[in-house]
Amino acid sequence: MQTESVSVGLLHAFRELLQQRDSHSAGVAEGVTEVLAGLNRHLENSHTALAENPALPDERVKLLDRSIASISKPTLQSFAEQIRLARNRLTWRVDYGLFYPKEADVGQAYRDGNMHSELIGPNGCVFRDDDFSLGLFMLAPKTFYRDHDHAAPELYYNLTGPCGWRFDKGHWQDFAAGSLVWNPQGLAHAMRTYAQPFLSVYSWTSHVNSLCRVVPVDDWLEIEAQLVNPQGDLKFDNSQP
Ligand SMILES: [Fe+2]
Repeated sequence: MQTESVSVGLLHAFRELLQQRDSHSAGVAEGVTEVLAGLNRHLENSHTALAENPALPDERVKLLDRSIASISKPTLQSFAEQIRLARNRLTWRVDYGLFYPKEADVGQAYRDGNMHSELIGPNGCVFRDDDFSLGLFMLAPKTFYRDHDHAAPELYYNLTGPCGWRFDKGHWQDFAAGSLVWNPQGLAHAMRTYAQPFLSVYSWTSHVNSLCRVVPVDDWLEIEAQLVNPQGDLKFDNSQP
């Protein structure tokens, strides 16, 4: 029997996490079904994982390790260990606006504070797929990911928390570790992190080659200033914009 790579093992472990969830809101259930179908396509039918890539950008290693160490929910500990094992085998990239039109204003805080590894997808480091992607996504502490939308329906499995989300420019809501977020096609969403880094598994279930689009909201600079304020308390206006 062929020895399974740690990267493929990570995908198997994530599939188990998704399968173990027994209740979902209606929207999330749709996303979970689609992501499981994508995972099954690769894990059940493909026997040729791509070569593992040992290169990892040194300057972000500490942040990445801190994000893995921030997975504190007991039921996620074995998955955290799988990420630790696979970490150096995965290809990590920083999104400097990669997924946006050239003129898009994603903000310097986001550029400085994000990192992802696409495991399955057009640039997947484990399996290639032209219309499904899945990977790990990290945001540094106190980072604002500005409102944006995309044609790709998107599922997030949040491994750390809390992390703030808002949808369609609405109220901010905090999501705990272990929660799921489903963004249907075209729904604007934004995220903000607090003292801990944010680490998640993301998946785009179709339209994976479409670009993201920033959705301007007039409180961006205010939120970014609050997040980096060294005076302490993060006080947010949660009212509807
Ligand atoms: Fe998104």
